[in-house]
Order: sequence, then structure tokens, then C-alpha cells
Amino acid sequence: MNVNGTAYRTIWLGTDGETVKIIDQTHLPHKFLVVSLRDLTDACSAIRDMWVRGAPLIGATAAYGVALAMRENPSDQGFQYAYSKLLETRPTAINLRWALDEMESCLRGLEPNKRSEVAYARAAEIANEDVKICSALGDHGKKVIENAWKEKGKREPVNILTHCNAGWLATVDWGTALAPIYKAHGAGIPVHIWVDETRPRNQGASLTAWELGQHGVSHTVIVDNAGGHLMQHGKVDLCITGTDRTTASGDVCNKIGTYLKALAAKDNDIPFYVALPGPTIDWSISDGVKEIPIELRDSKEITDITGLSSEGNIIAVQLTPDGTNAANYAFDVTPANLVTGLITERGIAKASAGGLAELYPEHAKS
Ligand code: MRU
Repeated sequence: MNVNGTAYRTIWLGTDGETVKIIDQTHLPHKFLVVSLRDLTDACSAIRDMWVRGAPLIGATAAYGVALAMRENPSDQGFQYAYSKLLETRPTAINLRWALDEMESCLRGLEPNKRSEVAYARAAEIANEDVKICSALGDHGKKVIENAWKEKGKREPVNILTHCNAGWLATVDWGTALAPIYKAHGAGIPVHIWVDETRPRNQGASLTAWELGQHGVSHTVIVDNAGGHLMQHGKVDLCITGTDRTTASGDVCNKIGTYLKALAAKDNDIPFYVALPGPTIDWSISDGVKEIPIELRDSKEITDITGLSSEGNIIAVQLTPDGTNAANYAFDVTPANLVTGLITERGIAKASAGGLAELYPEHAKS
């Protein structure tokens, strides 16, 4: 997608064929900074400290992290070390484990001196596949927006509420929740996006607002608690979010606060869609509330807030009294019964075991 008119992906191989380039998202929207990952430690820091974030991009970065590690130590122990270090960086997004397992299956049984080359090639494939998948799910999701527009008599923009950042910055390109929006916008369907700021890290206010702005998509940032009010007053036509892990029965884990939006949408008869690539489905579990590990992050993300000072510096300021306890649950689970549909690269599935099995028969339990 475009940054000041230039097309970028969120991760790519440097011209030396070894270092991995990423956009350091901790500086956005105030500064666009490309940084290099040179080794396994850099890749782990990039994921843990959220220079990159969003489930699909976490997966792609982990794949490149293995490639970087295979340059340093391509032995079996080297691979196992890289696998476990990368896996522990963030616990909720299943794309991380999926990408590591993909890397394991392509490297297993190979002579160590072949592993680095093969790992770079597979990481590049994973990144390219993500772009294709997100573009395809965008095409399917566009139809939902088009139908909403037709229902409005094609007279007014479709108002869509989204939470966190599930745009191209959260994937390699296109995004998940925002892909249908970019496709609709590109097809001339008028859209307006309500962007939840998404405390505590404010991925909505900083990242979603930035990328929608770069693409000329009309949007308004709202505080996280405003969604219910807007829904009651007919100002939301549909909700689309992303997900970090969806169970085989269609329960959806996503950024904290998603569940409350789904409840409000249900109460107001507003369709609540979730957009996801196949690798975000965890086929091994079915009860999202009981089985998905919820990341607990540093309480400083709640007690302090970061922004641009009047001198133009990015600074953190303290919000709470000294010594205040804060609990930073990063994700929650929206049960399948609150989800209208799952927008995937293979079409739109009912959020249920049967719905997903129909689209992904190779994973269906017999
Ligand atoms: O903590 P983050 O910023 O990695 O959380 C991201 C989200 O919750 C996204 O909605 C999710 O990863 C879906 S991504 C396309």
C-alpha cells in the first residue's frame, strides 16, 4: 500500500539479500522509520516490543527470524533455539506458531548448509502468500460493503466500525479488516470508517487513522466507549474487525474490547464481521474463552501514554497516580454466536464448526 505515494510492504528483504527490512510501527504516525533486522535477537525484539504487530505480520516476521537464525547457526539445536525464542515473544496470535511450524517442515531433514537459503525462500513465500490471501479476502469482504451500500439506496456512504489496527500494517500488505474497505474504496463505493482508538496502545488512533489517511479513506477516530452510542443512533451500518486466533468452532480472539463491540452490535442488529486469513484459524481448539492464552502486557502501557510533544518529540507521560496497579489484558474472545460471518480468502463462512469445515474441508474432523 502507499506511503506518501510510494508502494510499501511491511516487511521485505534488504538489497544485501540477508538483512530484513521492516517499518518500525512504534514511531507511527509521527515518524516513518524503516529499520533492519540483522539476527534472531533483532527479530525477537521486533515482535515482542511491537515494532511489528498484527497476527499475519507477526507470522511473516517469525519466518524471517528463522531465516536470520539459520545464517548464524543452522544446526538442529540452532533451529530449536530459534523456534522457542520466537514462539515466546507473543502468546496469542496463532500465526506465529503456524509460521514456525511451516519453517520447521521445510527445514526438517535438510543438510545444515542448505538451511539458510531454503529458509529465506520459504519466508519470502509466506510473505507473498499473505499478500495474496489478504487481497482475496478483501474481494470477498467488498461484497458485504457493496450490499450494505445497495441497501442504503446507494445514497450515502457505508459507515463501518473497526477496532485496533487490522490494516496493511498488521499484515504484509492489504490488511484483513481493512482489505474489504480498500477494495470497496477502490471500486468507488463510498465508505466512512469509525476508528476505535484502542487503548492502551492506541493502534486505531495511531496506525489505522494513519493508513486510512494515506489512502484517502474517510474516517473518524472515536474513543473506545463510543461505539455503542453510535450504534444506537443508526450511525454504524456494519462492524469489521480482524482476529489473532479463531477456533475451529468460530470463536474469535482479537484486541481487548472487541467482545464489547460485538455485544453492542448484537443488541442493535448490526452485522459484525471478522476478516481473517486461513493461518489465523487454530484447528486444534474449539473453546476460545477457555483455550486461548491471553497476553498480559506491561502495565506501563496503561499508566503512561505516548504522543508528540509541542516541540515535536515523541514522549511518554504518566496518567495515573504514582504506584497505581494496572492490569493490561491485551485480547478478549468474542463467542461465535455474536459473529455474523468470517471473511476469509475462500469466501465468507458462518462462524461455526460446520461453516469453517465447509470452506476448509482438509481440516474438517471426520
Ligand atoms: O497487539 P496487536 O497490535 O498485535 O493486535 C493486533 C490486533 O488485535 C489485530 O486486530 C489482529 O492482529 C488482526 S490482524 C490483521
